[in-house]
Amino acid sequence: MILAASILSADFSRLAEDIARAERGGASVIHVDVMDGHFVPNITLGPPVVKSIRKATKLPLDCHLMIEDADRYLDAFVDAGADWVSVHVEAVPHLERAVAHLAKRGAKAGVVLNPATPLTTLEEILPELHHVLIMSVNPGFGGQSFLPSSLDKVRRLKAMIGARSLATRIEIDGGVHAGNVKEVVAAGVEIVVAGSAVFGEGDVTAAARRMIEASR
Ligand code: DX5
Ligand code: ZN
Repeated sequence: MILAASILSADFSRLAEDIARAERGGASVIHVDVMDGHFVPNITLGPPVVKSIRKATKLPLDCHLMIEDADRYLDAFVDAGADWVSVHVEAVPHLERAVAHLAKRGAKAGVVLNPATPLTTLEEILPELHHVLIMSVNPGFGGQSFLPSSLDKVRRLKAMIGARSLATRIEIDGGVHAGNVKEVVAAGVEIVVAGSAVFGEGDVTAAARRMIEASR
């Protein structure tokens, strides 16, 4: 299991320290939630903050774009230092163009599905993706409850990937904690995003370690 620590629940005035704590606890990816107040009812950060985070860690930055017209901002996030860039199927009409552009820019392209968006939307684009991000909450906020139907969605996605012998990785985002991470990994998830379970517990390093231990 790869733990992608979501800084949404970190202390934004001490991001570098919180990221270092998560890294000491075993997080190997930093998940950066970009929200625009339109696609989702919340606003977070943009490329300048990604650029600063880039200087604070060597870990891959996994930018989850919850923004309208995401195509317009792909270069800005890659230029700022994003290694992985995930765009929502629901927010990008020309998905092939966006994914091909990211690959051309050297970024690892991923596609995100909201809880009610079916896996069939991935059929054509799946071979082009580094990862698929399954939302296990409706995006916009940290600390929400895991939607149990996501587990079956992950199992069906794993079967889809296996049937086509693809290397696409499965990532999940929302409501994962030490109490359910084992089940999530057993369903076929390789990359687990966790915000409040890592940064909302006081001791960030211990919380990250606990997540990794609980996944085994
Ligand atoms: C929610 C974000 C998540 C968020 C998850 O829209 O995409 O990355 O940080 O938070 P937790 O892990 O607290 O559910
Ligand atoms: Zn996210």
